[in-house]
Amino acid sequence: MRSCSRSIIEKPELVVETGTFSGISTLWIAEGLKANGRGKVITCEFDPVVYANAKTRIENSGVAEWIELRNQSSLEMNVEGTIDLFFSDSDLPIREQEVRRFLPQISPYGLILMHDASSHLKLVREAALKLEAEGLISVVLLPTPRGLVVAQKKQGRK
Ligand SMILES: C[S@@+](CC[C@H](N)C(=O)[O-])C[C@H]1O[C@@H](n2cnc3c(N)ncnc32)[C@H](O)[C@@H]1O
Repeated sequence: MRSCSRSIIEKPELVVETGTFSGISTLWIAEGLKANGRGKVITCEFDPVVYANAKTRIENSGVAEWIELRNQSSLEMNVEGTIDLFFSDSDLPIREQEVRRFLPQISPYGLILMHDASSHLKLVREAALKLEAEGLISVVLLPTPRGLVVAQKKQGRK
């Protein structure tokens, strides 16, 4: 039996991040998992050079055991299990595709984060509102400097 919504939001078992880049956000997530004493973050970066740099940073970080770094595209990567926190942070035009692709595996009690969702950047914000209009997710738009969508999957929520 999976734990209640508060618990999986505060203490996710499985975090998936798309777009590792330098690994900075991955390291922050891993610090949180370490503080919780549980969970794993799977992060993917499709550029081999960027991946290699992130790999070195992660290996030297002290939180590597909480991280699974993959040199793969988010649109090809497969993960096992239920995703409690999904952080979409790769290329702006594919964020919608990523959410659609992983949605069946995302817990209705977990969180979906889509970065770069400001009204200025438009693309991600519009993608999130489109997914909401289709009844797939419920969206909150946070006015962070680049904009952040915080969403939850609708299907399966009671
Ligand atoms: C905005 S950066 C990620 C920033 C990072 N999450 C952070 O906050 O530190 C986007 C990264 O996504 C990578 N990327 C773009 N498309 C991708 C895809 N389909 N799969 C995996 N990585 C991708 C790019 O190479 C780039 O390094």
